[in-house]
Amino acid sequence: MVNIAVLGYGTVGSGVVEVINTNGKRINQRVGDEVYIKYVLDLRDFPGDPVQEKLVHDFEVIVNDPEIQIVVEVMGGIEPAYTFVKRSLLAGKSVATSNKALVAKHGAELLSIAKEKNINFLFEASVGGGIPIIRALNSSITADEIEEITGILNGTTNYMLTKMFYEGADYDEVLKEAQEKGYAERNPEADVEGYDACRKIAILSSLISGYQVDFEDIYTEGITKITKQDMMYAKAMGMTIKLLASSRREKEHLHAIVAPYLLPEEHPLYSVNGVFNAVFVHGNVLGDAMFYGSGAGKLPTASAVVADVVDEAKHLNKNVMTMWESEKVELFPIEETSK
Ligand code: HSE
Repeated sequence: MVNIAVLGYGTVGSGVVEVINTNGKRINQRVGDEVYIKYVLDLRDFPGDPVQEKLVHDFEVIVNDPEIQIVVEVMGGIEPAYTFVKRSLLAGKSVATSNKALVAKHGAELLSIAKEKNINFLFEASVGGGIPIIRALNSSITADEIEEITGILNGTTNYMLTKMFYEGADYDEVLKEAQEKGYAERNPEADVEGYDACRKIAILSSLISGYQVDFEDIYTEGITKITKQDMMYAKAMGMTIKLLASSRREKEHLHAIVAPYLLPEEHPLYSVNGVFNAVFVHGNVLGDAMFYGSGAGKLPTASAVVADVVDEAKHLNKNVMTMWESEKVELFPIEETSK
């Protein structure tokens, strides 16, 4: 059994519990062992919710329990998340987090502690919600020098800009909707001022360069100055406005920026709408690739967190994934009419 503890029972934390409950059978098959949530840490109580049985209010219970192998940090914010994650790693527990602010600020230090302890600090969910972009950069396209990475990395602002484009909607009204749908950060300033996208492109820039990129060094402009009229003019010119986060390598230099851009219809990111995120990557041998998917929200983010848990559980127990069993599946016959 692989025992895990979930720090935070908010939107993403409850999503993690839901994903493990719903897809437990497949998850256990992939790990080759049972993934078991032993504790959920939160200051609040949840009477009537089955999670109440696992609820603890004191982090010491988790960090001092030798059975806990993986800690899932989904609290958000820097403190106490930083202290809890660092202490977990120092105690030899692997960590999976969705916390981009934490990774952007303390990633280098936390990765080096994990390396020392021969465990992993994983953060797939910190960029692009459910899109497996970190895993792609670390494995599938790891043979490349990435020369450019440009993305729509914030679901809230993309949702807002999409509504402004198609419905001529008002800024405040669409922000409220995005918050209600659970896409926005606790403080929506992080979304609309571009800070969230800035942390995400800082993480991606560190990954593609192999060195720490400080988010404070990235020029960042959000969408607060974009009006209904700006969007109308863009539309009249056959364009749209998107908040892009981009990092480009030119010779020895890396340039990174977050800002609203006018995009023509033929641009690959033009038609990325709603809460979807997309990341365009150019590698020196791969050429172009695009990653597209649900960029925010409870379950897509939880899916990425649990994927990290699965990977780490396999690594810890030195299990080899069962890709598929030899037992045969009978395919449903295709109807004559659909041929
Ligand atoms: N507030 C973020 C967004 C959540 O809208 O993309 C996912 O990181």
